[in-house]
Amino acid sequence: MKGKVTIVTGASMGIGRAIAEFLAEKGSAIAVFDVTDGAETVRAIEAKGSRAAFFPVDVSDSSQVEKAVVAVIDGMGRVDNLVNNAGIRRDKLLVRMTEDDWDQVMRVNLKGAFNCTKAVVRRLMKTGGSIVNIASIAGLTGNPGQSNYAASKAGIIGLTKSLAKEYGERGIRVNAVAPGLIKTEMTASLSEKYQETLVQAVPLGRAGEPVDVARVVYFLLSEYAGYVTGEVINVSGGLYT
Ligand SMILES: NC(=O)c1ccc[n+]([C@@H]2O[C@H](COP(=O)([O-])OP(=O)(O)OC[C@H]3O[C@@H](n4cnc5c(N)ncnc54)[C@H](OP(=O)(O)O)[C@@H]3O)[C@@H](O)[C@H]2O)c1
Repeated sequence: MKGKVTIVTGASMGIGRAIAEFLAEKGSAIAVFDVTDGAETVRAIEAKGSRAAFFPVDVSDSSQVEKAVVAVIDGMGRVDNLVNNAGIRRDKLLVRMTEDDWDQVMRVNLKGAFNCTKAVVRRLMKTGGSIVNIASIAGLTGNPGQSNYAASKAGIIGLTKSLAKEYGERGIRVNAVAPGLIKTEMTASLSEKYQETLVQAVPLGRAGEPVDVARVVYFLLSEYAGYVTGEVINVSGGLYT
């Protein structure tokens, strides 16, 4: 990771922040792309002696993404890795789901990854690089009340596998991580009862911490995974195998 620059989307909090901090500890400079202020993530990384910068970006807007990637190259000198982590959920049963609920989730979770990948891939084709997409076990299992979210995450897996085949010969690896229940703002709003039921079904007996995901993202980005592409690694404590 030393000397590399990694873009992490949705890195102002939660899993994205943990990924940003973990990669920074391993020596990468971090570009934080988020709609929420990323100053705290940047301060935490700088306190560890690494380089970071915040770019206010809505990943669903291709022109914002393109401009931010140009700003990363101008300001940080290069880009080597991309972590498509930004995501939202708008859970409802299908009968109550509005077109807007569907579109918002698709725009951020799936089109966001498309936008960011498209903006960096030509640059990575010259240098090689690595991309990790944050999916979800919901994209593999489906979930009642999450048809939009699960479809977006299944889409992420299809995107990952396709791009791995499209850009492998250019030295770009593309993999995905599928987390289970991880303790973040996103899951804080789930009822305690539902969280308890889920945890009871987790063989490792606990909800995941954001750093549990960050460690696997690091592995996939690093040379340790130099012969790994097009894969999905579940980080769910065994909830889904
Ligand atoms: N937590 C889990 O149990 C779990 C499980 C499986 C998969 N995941 C996936 O892991 C990823 C991170 O989840 P998390 O739990 O860390 O979520 P989180 O705590 O809600 O953090 C997500 C971050 O992404 C930002 N974001 C939202 N929309 C964006 C956009 N259009 N452009 C740029 N940034 C945007 C959010 O800003 P705002 O807060 O302002 O929206 C927030 O800072 C997501 O893709 C999620 O689907 C999470």
